[in-house]
Amino acid sequence: MNNNLQQPSTHPSSTWSQRFESALHPAIARFNASIGFDIQLLEYDLTGSQAHARMLAHTGIISPEEGERLVNGLEQIRQEHHAGMFNPGIEAEDIHFAVERRLTEIVGDVGKKLHTARSRNDQVGTDTRLYLRDQIQTIRTQLREFQSVLLSLAEQHVETLIPGYTHLQRAQPLSLAHHLLAYFEMTQRDWERLGEIYQRVNLSPLGSGALAGTTFPIDRHYTAQLLNFGGVYANSLDGVSDRDFAIEFLCAASLIMVHLSRLSEEVILWASEEFSFVTLKDSCSTGSSIMPQKKNPDVPELVRGKTGRVFGHLQGMLVLMKGLPLAYNKDLQEDKEALFDAVITVQSCLEAVTVLMHEGLEFRTARLMDAVSEDFSNATDVADYLASKGVPFREAYNLVGKVVKTSLAQGKLLKDLSLDEWQALHPKFEADIYEAITPQRVVAARNSYGGTGFEQVRKALESAKAIVTSNATQ
Ligand code: ARG
Repeated sequence: MNNNLQQPSTHPSSTWSQRFESALHPAIARFNASIGFDIQLLEYDLTGSQAHARMLAHTGIISPEEGERLVNGLEQIRQEHHAGMFNPGIEAEDIHFAVERRLTEIVGDVGKKLHTARSRNDQVGTDTRLYLRDQIQTIRTQLREFQSVLLSLAEQHVETLIPGYTHLQRAQPLSLAHHLLAYFEMTQRDWERLGEIYQRVNLSPLGSGALAGTTFPIDRHYTAQLLNFGGVYANSLDGVSDRDFAIEFLCAASLIMVHLSRLSEEVILWASEEFSFVTLKDSCSTGSSIMPQKKNPDVPELVRGKTGRVFGHLQGMLVLMKGLPLAYNKDLQEDKEALFDAVITVQSCLEAVTVLMHEGLEFRTARLMDAVSEDFSNATDVADYLASKGVPFREAYNLVGKVVKTSLAQGKLLKDLSLDEWQALHPKFEADIYEAITPQRVVAARNSYGGTGFEQVRKALESAKAIVTSNATQ
């Protein structure tokens, strides 16, 4: 057994009230401590505490001089942190105690006034929201960068054709730009969704106290304003125990990962020898330690893999909250690692996928052209041809089904049929059938709103560009 485990802690617990007679068992101290991860909240804890100290002075709960000493002392901790000099150990238990202790070392006994009219419960809720606000903004910026890369790729490939699939079977050819713009739409929803969620992350629980508010004449709107919150929680119990905002974020993060993972899966397929639609550049692929011929799509594979952990965090947070009685319970300390990991995972995946799409792959346009020219993905257009000449669509559809069958048996494509053969099938076929079934025409003809027709795609590209370059925040 670990020696540490048997010895009582050498740290007398000065953290809690005199009610405690003995120190925490070291194993329990380690188990209880969150400093190992909530150190990431340090900057936000300092900012939140500075706002609280200012409010205490503003309302006369402490003197202006005391307020200033607290604010300056907290600022000194920030400097120490930037210089790499603030490294609390687990005896501090969590970031909130760590800061308060260091503050008291710096400013003396007045440091002990910082926690007046505050609890760690409203404090940690405040810190987490401040943290998440920043992270959401970073992710929204990253989504915009990713979209810009998609748009410049789309711009280059309006007229590049790529097979379109349903059931992963060749269906109808597409403009490659249309395919890429589908991901623009998905990530646009992600961007908007994060903006909506931001409104609910951006509420201040500070001043909710432990659960019931406080006996001091605090001003919650004042701290909220100092911290740029959009409003305050109306109910103190809800303020300290609500984690809906974290769940909503994890839901949005999961959807981002769904989208990145779908694109990743496509890139993996496209890079395979079977598809050969893209070549992966050396800067974004890795080799095998044993098979010298290999070039592996590690980036999209990792993104696809990492998607699972973000989904897991969403599930974990839902289960964490289910059945929790009001108000704060220590279970809530478990929200942080999930949130931190989801944030870093989404951010790193967005960064990697953006680089991958920007400079990590090249579309093999000649190979794509061959692909769309050598299949039956123009069959619908033959049926549409007849239907536009008055033949009922279902009848035309059945007829074309028969031609596909006989052509397949003869090893022919639709474009290889002679005019006599076409006319033997149906007298309405004329020489313009050949032009009607070229891949370019098949794509161009789908000019319905939102379709892959080049004209539609150019319009969609323009409106996407307008969205990305506008300064709208919602
Ligand atoms: N480290 C704690 C957490 O993350 C801070 C709040 C502790 N509150 C309490 N009543 N023990 O949840």
